[in-house]
Amino acid sequence: DWIMGDYIEEAVAKIREQVGDEEVILGLSGGVDSSVAAALIHRAIGDQLTCVFVDHGLLRLNEGDMVMEMFEGKLHAKVIRVDASDLFLGKLAGVSEPEAKRKIIGGLFVDVFKAEADKLKAGDGGHKGATFLAQGTIYPDVIESGGAKSKKAVTIKSHHNVGGLPEQLGLKLLEPLRDLFKDEVRELGVALGLPRGMVYRHPFPGPGLGVRILGEVKKEYADLLRRADAIFIEELNNWVDDATGKTWYDLTSQAFTVFLPVKSVGVMGDGRTYDYVVALRAVQTSDFMTADWAELPYGLLKRVSNRIINEVRGINRVTYDVSSKPPATIEWE
Ligand code: XMP
Repeated sequence: DWIMGDYIEEAVAKIREQVGDEEVILGLSGGVDSSVAAALIHRAIGDQLTCVFVDHGLLRLNEGDMVMEMFEGKLHAKVIRVDASDLFLGKLAGVSEPEAKRKIIGGLFVDVFKAEADKLKAGDGGHKGATFLAQGTIYPDVIESGGAKSKKAVTIKSHHNVGGLPEQLGLKLLEPLRDLFKDEVRELGVALGLPRGMVYRHPFPGPGLGVRILGEVKKEYADLLRRADAIFIEELNNWVDDATGKTWYDLTSQAFTVFLPVKSVGVMGDGRTYDYVVALRAVQTSDFMTADWAELPYGLLKRVSNRIINEVRGINRVTYDVSSKPPATIEWE
């Protein structure tokens, strides 16, 4: 609408004034905040922005390609995609403790990002090098970073909106979303032409599937989980609730699949199977501090379960998590 149009014009002018003819680096994760920040900054300064997208190999099905298609393909932004999946999986081998996994993923993420940023900072022939680091920090992040938070949350925010990184890199900070609440960021994203599906997506943790594969992370597990989760999300998007006219994806705050590295027995045709188990998790919450498990329609659960078991060879049992937070958490790790 026109109010958002005015806002964009003002924000664009401010970014141009702040940046001048200098260059900006932005860590793109595919999440709402960094995506909207990238789209806004790109609108303001075009090729003076370079996005760095670190693919840790723990993203959802086709997620990396979708991010590239949107930012490079549609918006024509400069994006460097760093495929670091082997590096991450290698360092995660043999590690099963959740906080240890988070530390490894968060630490490597910063290392890989810094290495790319250092190259961009140095510049090359005819290129003077970046002087700004852009981050998708939003207003709630600004407030939260003052107060006490759980260890999990601190690890998180230190992941993508990396505290202290601009100083370490010797870069100036550009944070165009600092005054906005989440809803405003979403509206801004839509006004900038980002697809609604990207802007209204459920939150996804920085460590990604790394904390949705219980215990040790293996590529085989991640591949199975990605396929099962894609089916769950697709069906949540297909299933419309008659009473509200909304999809079950929109009626839940966060929904995903968890990989359990245990095998159970099943039958298929004349044969016996001995395969992995997944759990579906779907919650409704306003603040993610407390959450209720969602009362998904049985028909939806039935279809998701049938599809996963029939389509994903290697998984033969699907369970639904009926635990609320507290005492359970939303994620399983
Ligand atoms: P829990 O599991 O603590 O999750 O009930 C609350 C919210 O935080 C998200 N979460 C994370 N986000 N890095 C993130 O970026 C993390 O390590 C992490 N752990 C939990 C979770 O997805 C939920 O939205």
